[in-house]
Amino acid sequence: PTITFIEHNGTPHAVTAEVGQSIMQAALNAMVPGIQADCGGACSCATCHAFLEDNWMGAVPAAEGSELDMLEFANERKENSRLTCQLTIQDNMDGMVLRLPESQY
Ligand code: FES
Repeated sequence: PTITFIEHNGTPHAVTAEVGQSIMQAALNAMVPGIQADCGGACSCATCHAFLEDNWMGAVPAAEGSELDMLEFANERKENSRLTCQLTIQDNMDGMVLRLPESQY
């Protein structure tokens, strides 16, 4: 599936992702600026934070448990905030759009 990350300045990055990897990993592999992922996907840094476009909210499980806890530490948290290391890429995510915060800190 192709997932598009839009930087805070509006620059889009369309990334071809592999089913089964995390959205965070797909962004890192494609060197998308703005995803830091300091903890490497352990759900303990909140620097893989992105805003999932509203029309895609239903395509992923709701945030719960440690993701919800860590979202408390996300910069500029909003209703559609997610930690991208906690979202596993599925076939149905082709065309998904995520926007990146101005800063992860
Ligand atoms: Fe650290 Fe996602 S990479 S919480």
